Amino acid sequence: MFVCRECGAHAPRWMGRCGSCGAWGTVNEQLPASVAPIRAGAVTPVRLGDAGESPAPRTGTGIDELDRVLGGGLVEGSLVLIGGEPGIGKSTLVLQALAHMSRAGDVLLITGEESIDQVRTRAQRLAVDCEAVGVVAETSLETVVAAIETLRPAVVAIDSVQTLVSDAIDGAPGTVTQVRQAAASLMKAAKTTGVTVLLVGQVTKDGGLAGPRMLEHLVDTVLIFEGEEMRSHRILRAVKNRFGSIDETGLFEMRARGLESVADPAGLFLDAHRGQVGSCVFPAIQGSRALLVEVQALVGHTEVVPPRRVGVGVDRTRLAQVIAVLSRHAGLRLGDQDVFVSVAGGIRALDPATDLAIALAIVSAHRGVPVAPGAGAFGELALTGAVRPVGHAARRLAALAAQGFEIAVMPRTATDAVPESSGAPRRAEVDGVTQALDVACAR
Ligand code: TYD
Ligand code: MG
Repeated sequence: MFVCRECGAHAPRWMGRCGSCGAWGTVNEQLPASVAPIRAGAVTPVRLGDAGESPAPRTGTGIDELDRVLGGGLVEGSLVLIGGEPGIGKSTLVLQALAHMSRAGDVLLITGEESIDQVRTRAQRLAVDCEAVGVVAETSLETVVAAIETLRPAVVAIDSVQTLVSDAIDGAPGTVTQVRQAAASLMKAAKTTGVTVLLVGQVTKDGGLAGPRMLEHLVDTVLIFEGEEMRSHRILRAVKNRFGSIDETGLFEMRARGLESVADPAGLFLDAHRGQVGSCVFPAIQGSRALLVEVQALVGHTEVVPPRRVGVGVDRTRLAQVIAVLSRHAGLRLGDQDVFVSVAGGIRALDPATDLAIALAIVSAHRGVPVAPGAGAFGELALTGAVRPVGHAARRLAALAAQGFEIAVMPRTATDAVPESSGAPRRAEVDGVTQALDVACAR
C-alpha cells in the first residue's frame, strides 16, 4: 500500500505526485499491519441490562462555560481536542483550566509551540494562580506518551498536536500522518492510564490541513473555539461529544487578565442600535440556555443572474426556502435582488424556529420599514406559507420578557405549553407569513 503523508490518500502503486492532493514526493510505501489469527470462542458478549461500571467521574475545570460545553466537566481518561484559529485564545483557555485543576491534583502542560518562558509570561498575565502547573517543552510523541505513563498527572494538556513528531513514521510535524499518529497514541495512553488529555489543535483560516475535523473520529470530544478578531467575545462549541450534548455553547470574553466566562449573555448579541431596518430579534435556544440574537438582512438590486443568496450563521437551505415562501405567498419580488442574511456576533441559529425572524428581517430590508419596536419573532415557515409551532415556546417568551420585549410574533401555541406570566410579551400568534408581516412589518 502507498500512502500520501500530506493528505493520507491511499494508492495501489508509488507515484511521484499524489493524485489526491497534488503534493510532490509525499507518497511512501506502508506495510500492512500484521493481522492476529482469529481465536474461536474468545468472544463473550455483555448484556446491556447487566450492571456495568458506574460512569467515569468528572472533574470540574473551574471555568463555568468550559464545563457547560463539556457536559459538566472533564471525564477522567478522555481525550478532548480544542481547535481554533491562531490567536483565538486556546493556549489561554487551557492554561486557565490547568491552573484551576492544579488545586486538586497534578497537572502537566506540554508545550511544543512556545518556550517555557513564553508560557510563564502568559501565566503572569492571568488572574488565576498558575504556580502549581508543571510545564515541559517537548515535541517527541514517544517522550510525551512516556511522560504521561510515568508521571500519571490527573490532566495533561498538549499545545499543540501539530508540533508532535513520532520517530515511528516519517513526515514533518503537522502533516496528516503525524497528527493522526499523535492523536491515536495519546488516545491509547488516556484510556490505559486514566489520565485526561487536552489536545490543542490549530485550524488555519481556510479550515485547512491537519484540522480538528480530521481527528474527529479518533477523539472523544471536539471543541471549536471561535470569535471575531475585532470583538472581544469568544464562542466555544462542541462539534462532537461522547459525554454530553453538542447543543451547548460557551461564551467568553477576552480581557486583559485572560478569558472570562459570560454568565448572563441573554442580551449580549443584541445590537445597541436595534430597531433598524433589516433587523429582527430571535430568541435562540442553545442547549440549556436561551439567547436573544439579531437576524440582519440586506436586500439590494443586482444585475447578477442568479442573484446572490448569502447566509452567515443561518441554514442556507432554509434561507432559500424562506425566500421562496416570501416570493410565492407574500408577493415579494426578489428575482433581481441580492439577499444577505446574517446572525450578529458569530452565533449560529440553524434551527427551523429561525425562519420567521429571517422572513421579517428580509421583508423589513426590502420594504425599508423597521420591524415593530419591541418585537421579537420565532416560528417555522412551511412551504405553504403557514407558520408552524416550534419547541421551547415558553423559554423563548421568557428570554424576550427578560430583555423587556413587548411583542412576540409566534405560531399558534397551545396555552398550556406557555404558562401566563407577568411581564411576558404580548403573544401575537399568527397562522401564516402574510399575517406575520401585517403584525410586525406593515408598510
Ligand atoms: P492565545 O491563548 O495565545 O491564542 P492561541 O493559543 O489560540 O493562538 O491568545 C490569543 C490572544 O489573546 C493574544 O493575541 C493576546 C490575547 N490575550 C489577552 O487579551 N489577554 C490575556 O490575558 C492573554 C493571555 C492573551
Ligand atoms: Mg497557542
